[in-house]
Amino acid sequence: MPDEQLRVSQSLMMMVNAQGQMTALASMSHPPLTLTPAQWWLVGSLRSACPKEDVLAIPSTFSRAQLDEALDTLLAHSVVVPVKGTQVDSSRYVLGPGGWADIAEHHRMLYDTVRVHAYRSSLFRHARDQVVLDIGTGTGLLAILAAKAGARHVYAIEESAIAEVALEMYAENGVADRITLLQGNSRDIELPQRANVIVHELLNTDPFGENLLPAIQHATQHFLAPGGRLIPHRIEAMCVGVQMTEPVSSGQRMLREAENLNDFYGLSFKPVLKRMQAAFDVAGPNFDQGGMVIPPTAPQTLLTRPCLLRDVQLDGDLTEAMNEQSVESVLEVNAPGILGGVAIYFRAHMDEHTVLSTSPSAPPTCWGFQVKEFKERVQVQPGDRVRIVSTLNRSHGHRFKIVLA
Ligand SMILES: C[S@@+](CC[C@H](N)C(=O)[O-])C[C@H]1O[C@@H](n2cnc3c(N)ncnc32)[C@H](O)[C@@H]1O
Repeated sequence: MPDEQLRVSQSLMMMVNAQGQMTALASMSHPPLTLTPAQWWLVGSLRSACPKEDVLAIPSTFSRAQLDEALDTLLAHSVVVPVKGTQVDSSRYVLGPGGWADIAEHHRMLYDTVRVHAYRSSLFRHARDQVVLDIGTGTGLLAILAAKAGARHVYAIEESAIAEVALEMYAENGVADRITLLQGNSRDIELPQRANVIVHELLNTDPFGENLLPAIQHATQHFLAPGGRLIPHRIEAMCVGVQMTEPVSSGQRMLREAENLNDFYGLSFKPVLKRMQAAFDVAGPNFDQGGMVIPPTAPQTLLTRPCLLRDVQLDGDLTEAMNEQSVESVLEVNAPGILGGVAIYFRAHMDEHTVLSTSPSAPPTCWGFQVKEFKERVQVQPGDRVRIVSTLNRSHGHRFKIVLA
């Protein structure tokens, strides 16, 4: 389209890779893109919305063919997005094909009844007669639950190609007329109206590792009606000192599990099952490769009491939480052993009644917990106090780096 407006995605992260090259990442479902000089030039030129032809007409050292090719690649990675009026043209957003489009990832989450029931009970308490926004709808589950709970209307946003399953799931479960799906990253999207309830499950095993904080900061500022509610509204990032064992996973086990999904929630998961089987037929035992850490079969040896790393109220200003420097915490040892690292987990406060905990001492969830190994091992005894320093690594989706102080 010749007079099409384009702009750089609001969720764009620029990084310098190990080879010193500039890389761009706008969605966790697109691989990082190493920028060519022409792409780099376009990113700089499209910081605000601009007609495509105007940008291509700016005098530069690149040929028209080079710029056209560079622009196509930027659009395919959603680094640059099409804009219609002031809004991103959701119908033309390029949904990420990998990452969260992987049906195996969604199976793990759907099969986790601890997770789903925490969200479900909170939605059934708060969604009735409300306008609800589901950020990162995935296979559509939380939007469907909100609709079933009596929401007046549900908006759902999804940036990966799993969105096509969500659409089928809405229809399959008879709620398509009350859910509007908007494709793209939430930070690029505008909503027709503000929501009274925003439900989000952008939680990583390392809780802020999926860019939760910038997405929620943006959502409370742009999407939440005054007095509205976030589900969850508070995250405590926690850790506990451990001796380590290896995590395990298996694609075949996941496929067997998936056949039980219908019984769990009284919904039909046919479109999900279809994709799971197709993915398994293609990839076989490698089906769930690249998955997250899952709960270990053998219990971890926990050597310390739980230790709070951060307590973040999501409906407040998150700038400080995102930019703060290193924080020192103390592990209180309560069992003898060789301390090799900490298992990181979270407590998500869904509302005043429900806390979803991924603690190694709580019932297992799809998140498991991630062990951050220390460089050295420390022989510890009950009563010892071990000081650690945690830093939120900003260039990597706010993942924790934890070292001995
Ligand atoms: C952890 S999954 C949860 C899926 C679903 N809500 C559920 O509970 O089963 C997160 C989903 O959100 C999507 N996502 C993450 N951040 C997003 C953002 N800022 N805007 C739109 N989609 C996002 C991912 O592509 C993924 O499908």
